[in-house]
Amino acid sequence: LWVSTADGRIKGWDWEVHEDADFGKLMTQKSWVDLDSAEPINVSSSAPRIGVKVITANEERNEFFFPGFIDTHIHAPQYPNAGLFGSTTLLDWLNTYTFPVESGFGKQPDPKTGSQTQTNPKDTPLHGQHVYDQVIARTLSHGTTCASYFATIHIPATNALAALCHARGQRAFIGRVCMDEPKFCPTYYCDASAEDSVTATRETIDFIHSLDPSGRLVKPIVTPRFAPTCSAPALKGLGDLAASFNPPLHIQTHISENLNEVALVKELFPQSDSYAGVYDDYNLLTRRTILAHAVHLTAEERKLVRARDAKVSHCPASNSALGSGICPVRTLIDEGITVGLGTDVSGGYSPSILEAARQACLVSRLLGQTVEWQKDHPDPGDDEGREKLSVAESLYLATRGGAAVIDMAEEVGGFDREMLWDVQLIHLGGVREREISPLETFSNGDADLVHTGPIGNVDIFGTETWEEKIQKWVWSGDDRNVKAVWVGGRLVHTRR
Ligand code: GUN
Ligand code: FE
Repeated sequence: LWVSTADGRIKGWDWEVHEDADFGKLMTQKSWVDLDSAEPINVSSSAPRIGVKVITANEERNEFFFPGFIDTHIHAPQYPNAGLFGSTTLLDWLNTYTFPVESGFGKQPDPKTGSQTQTNPKDTPLHGQHVYDQVIARTLSHGTTCASYFATIHIPATNALAALCHARGQRAFIGRVCMDEPKFCPTYYCDASAEDSVTATRETIDFIHSLDPSGRLVKPIVTPRFAPTCSAPALKGLGDLAASFNPPLHIQTHISENLNEVALVKELFPQSDSYAGVYDDYNLLTRRTILAHAVHLTAEERKLVRARDAKVSHCPASNSALGSGICPVRTLIDEGITVGLGTDVSGGYSPSILEAARQACLVSRLLGQTVEWQKDHPDPGDDEGREKLSVAESLYLATRGGAAVIDMAEEVGGFDREMLWDVQLIHLGGVREREISPLETFSNGDADLVHTGPIGNVDIFGTETWEEKIQKWVWSGDDRNVKAVWVGGRLVHTRR
């Protein structure tokens, strides 16, 4: 497979296409075919082609290329809390775990002027830099080539997250979190005013645009946290801000994650028809909007989301951890809504999109067993079990689905020619016959030999089809199977 060194795009390839796998195309090296001239190229004799990099996967070692994962919803500053949520659910989790950790990322706005502009990006607390660097390194190691990040309300820390993604080479959307509603936000972590939400956001947008003028790698995303934390003027100002750019900016927020939250929004926005209606009333429901969770949307709301072509980030690990509910993904997809996957760290306990894919499969299998579902489907008939997602479908959501969610379906998420080389090289463990029996190893007393245990969590015995290897990868794989990761042709992670 070869990739242009100039623009990082896929120029040609040869792979074995596994036709019955609808998750995309697996590649194994056989020979190369130049798609422009349709000329086969003998790999062993091919002189290096100028401006082109040839990258190969070794099928015998159970290696294959896979499109990089796209995390359509992750909170970078919450990473220190991954795995910490106790027995909380959404609203008390925010107050107990989330607002405290996020507030540590910077200075409070000046209480007199509400301005954060006097702070210099260089003032970013070391704590924030360290966490952000770690979350980028960690997600890259799990094969996440693109992430849509929520940062915090702090301008310097938000800008630092953008700069670190740019420096490490991770494709990213970076959102300065907006939350100005004192009825919900704690006094220690709240924008000074609706105007402050908008002007501070604009400042981070300007920084990100100057950091990456082409927008090839890092882009800003307008980020009202969710309806309960935002005043109506802030929602309106942010909708207008996104629309004032050409093309309009991306937007991300949360929607209908938890039943208490849904009830709260109804109470706070009595003039709107629904939760989705609140966002629509303030021009926040656009084709570039990412709505995280969407667990409890009504049929009417789904119709509205579809009509606006807003996208959904399905966060199954988070929905289970915080006890939010089960998102009816099949229903969303059948109704024409575009869906991708999100880790939602740290509502979600894991920074891995492979884990999100696994959890998407698992929760879809439980959905039909819930009382609510059975009430709605008294006689499912031929639709019995339709809500279950296959491994292939979960991988589609992790790649092509995510690409569509971030409005980059032409650019990333697959192996089409001229797509960007945002790719992970996966290797699965082979089972080799032991050269020395365990008994001999121990009697030798050779410490090095004693420690030669199996590597990774996937054992391939050689009898598996490619489909079966992929199933084993999704159910048992992890970052130990990610050998290398590229973004736009640039190598950004390797593991020995
Ligand atoms: N709703 C509002 N803020 C958050 C957040 O940080 N995480 C999740 N999962 N839901 C939210
Ligand atoms: Fe979230």
